[in-house]
Amino acid sequence: MVKKVHVLDHPLIQHKLTIIRDKNTGPKEFRELVDEISTLMAYELTRNLALQVVTIETPIKKMNAKKLSGKKIGIVPIMRAGLGMVNGITRMIPVAKVGHIGLYRDPETLKAIEYYVKLPTDIQGRELIVVDPMLATGGSASAAIQALKDRGAVNIKFLCLIAVQEGIDAIHKDHPEVDIFTASIDQGLNDKSYIIPGFGDAGDRLFGTK
Ligand code: URA
Repeated sequence: MVKKVHVLDHPLIQHKLTIIRDKNTGPKEFRELVDEISTLMAYELTRNLALQVVTIETPIKKMNAKKLSGKKIGIVPIMRAGLGMVNGITRMIPVAKVGHIGLYRDPETLKAIEYYVKLPTDIQGRELIVVDPMLATGGSASAAIQALKDRGAVNIKFLCLIAVQEGIDAIHKDHPEVDIFTASIDQGLNDKSYIIPGFGDAGDRLFGTK
């Protein structure tokens, strides 16, 4: 299967990404910009949603017009940094349901362990968008996607702000059918698995915990 990575290079997304990369951007502006970038990315990501023709009446006359054909969408943030992207996406897709996945890395096996999973009950019939600002090693992204598949999900996309090739390869090794949407593919990872140049710890910068 062809590897599917989509770099969303809209000028507004790229401009805002540059501001959040800057170490002098504080948590308030950082959070607002992650929110705005997520809205813009959701707009691009939903470009191919199916439409149907419905008949409506304007104040002037009857017409046939297009509406979304009822596709059900679910957004699944990986906690905690993924939470920062949710409102930006639901602004664009207000009927989307939101599930949550919490994972931690077992210090001995280095495997991602689920500590919290709460999902819409009908995930089998939904197009799911897993969100996390950073796709670094790909360990938690791949485990989150697996957690959804184990519960019956079949239609999954992954959305992040910054990815590196290692993380892209990890997802595509385990889940070759999953499309990845990112605003940038950065250089690589440092010895602490932070993205270079990246923007540091996404959770800390969103929630001001550093
Ligand atoms: N997670 C982050 O928050 N930042 C990185 O650079 C990599 C993973």
